[in-house]
Amino acid sequence: MARTVITFGTFDVFHVGHLRIIERAASYGDRLVVGVSADALNKVKKDREPVFSERERMAIVGALEAVDEVFLEESLELKRHYIEQFGADVLVMGDDWAGRFDEMKDLCEVVYLPRTPAISTTALIEKIANG
Ligand code: CTP
Repeated sequence: MARTVITFGTFDVFHVGHLRIIERAASYGDRLVVGVSADALNKVKKDREPVFSERERMAIVGALEAVDEVFLEESLELKRHYIEQFGADVLVMGDDWAGRFDEMKDLCEVVYLPRTPAISTTALIEKIANG
């Protein structure tokens, strides 16, 4: 049986930390589905507008070789629904979320992967803005 992996994120100002988590997530199964946070959700989550729109962020993530399918994550409360909708066997999240999704363990395997050190969208935006 093919194993489906699901992961979520904003993936704004796409960087190598994003690429690495997506590639590592893909290695946990045969098919990788990525939920890209909607602009409105990002506003709530990070208290700022994303630099790139949800359509642009979905186009970038969807073009990656490791990614089989992308969808718009409209609410943080719907993780359980998305896992069921896509028949995910594994949920992969960065360890900035460690423990936060353990309640999904009745539905699928839950894996937290270490973040790539020293890079984030927030830091990049600050670096670009401040020169
Ligand atoms: N991620 C990672 N390593 C990094 C940055 C992000 O593994 N250096 C992972 C996160 O753990 C998450 C996914 O990439 O699973 C999407 O993260 P996102 O929040 O979109 O990126 P950040 O760079 O963390 O953005 P921000 O600075 O706005 O919080």
